[in-house]
Amino acid sequence: MKKNLSILGATGSIGTSALDVVKKHSDKFRVVGLSGHRNIDLLLRQIKEFHPAVVAVTDTGACGEITSQCGGETRVVCGVEGAKEVATLDDVDMVVSAVVGAVGLLPTLAAIKAGKDIALANKETLVIGGALIAPALAESGVALLPVDSEHSAIFQSIRGHGKAEIRRLILTASGGPFRTWRREEIEKATLKEALRHPNWNMGSKITIDSATMMNKGLEMIEAHWLFGVDPEAIDILIHPESIVHSMVEYIDGVIIAQLGIPDMRIPIAYALGYPHRLDMELKRLNFAETGSLTFESPDRAKFPAITLAYEAIREGGTFPAVMNAANEEAVRAFMRGGVSFTGIHELVRRVMDRHKSLTVSLENILEADAWARRQAAEILGK
Ligand SMILES: NC(=O)c1ccc[n+]([C@@H]2O[C@H](COP(=O)([O-])OP(=O)(O)OC[C@H]3O[C@@H](n4cnc5c(N)ncnc54)[C@H](OP(=O)(O)O)[C@@H]3O)[C@@H](O)[C@H]2O)c1
Repeated sequence: MKKNLSILGATGSIGTSALDVVKKHSDKFRVVGLSGHRNIDLLLRQIKEFHPAVVAVTDTGACGEITSQCGGETRVVCGVEGAKEVATLDDVDMVVSAVVGAVGLLPTLAAIKAGKDIALANKETLVIGGALIAPALAESGVALLPVDSEHSAIFQSIRGHGKAEIRRLILTASGGPFRTWRREEIEKATLKEALRHPNWNMGSKITIDSATMMNKGLEMIEAHWLFGVDPEAIDILIHPESIVHSMVEYIDGVIIAQLGIPDMRIPIAYALGYPHRLDMELKRLNFAETGSLTFESPDRAKFPAITLAYEAIREGGTFPAVMNAANEEAVRAFMRGGVSFTGIHELVRRVMDRHKSLTVSLENILEADAWARRQAAEILGK
């Protein structure tokens, strides 16, 4: 029987790769729902190709446009409520959560509560709402499969082992385009330079986060919630070749790692096909060609975002939501030329310094997220 999918963020880098997996294994998957935000042309092409029953367009302006252009059997729904509808359709088995940013939390939470398995790319869901997601998963009994390559690697390296046997998780990181740059050079980094990721082809927000290394901070928090491991037992290790996707160290000193070429279709296919592996007919890893694999510690003085993330999760409460929202605003400001590259982590730091944590509830997380964006705007306005 085919697995019915809704793909949130279908027009993005992960969304289009997920549709590649569906195309390659059309005997196993059927697309029932899609969501996009502003990329109407691509969404219309996807509707034509995959014939989803329902499509959500979260940008309300774009939604009007697509409704008039989209005839046939596909129903169009608008805004965040539309995304929630696509995430909770009766005949959907699994939701691929692949929008970018904190906006992913509400539809993902709705999908879990509606009993849908989740393939999670939207790490922000766990960063800001991890304390809500864990009990929601336990209550509904659905599976949450990580799509992030590092978490997929840990998930695969952890199978068959009890939590008590884990000593630490080792999240690998390419180090981004500025790994070898001096601090003074990084201060002057341009948008074009920050968007030039050495190994991965991704959406612009995560590419900038990889350059600041905030992405690894977000991933550390994601790993904490996914695997129930204390943040202090999650290490970050620079591995410029992006071949070892992450590792688990056990109490007997043994380390189990997952390796492969850097192509997001591999972890996506693993999440969609779980517990079975799917052949995507991709280039295979050839160690003789790869040569050496190298590792080094991250330089936290050059990349202070890593420290911000450890601080945020240690403080707990609404701190991770505030850090995430401030970072989203800071990255947006950098992309439009409103702050320098190093201004990104400085802005996040200033917003976090102003915050008094609230206890965790959905209402407080959303309030903290909105508060952090207002603080960022105020600081940027000065
Ligand atoms: N790309 C990767 O290789 C990768 C790897 C691991 C994890 N992730 C995570 O996966 C998520 C998606 O990343 P990505 O690189 O695929 O991003 P992306 O290419 O920028 O795509 C983002 C998707 O979200 C939609 N979107 C943008 N703003 C939205 C909003 N306000 N409300 C609802 N939808 C919105 C976009 O729609 P339109 O394009 O139609 O405007 C698009 O479909 C992120 O959380 C990222 O951290 C990505």
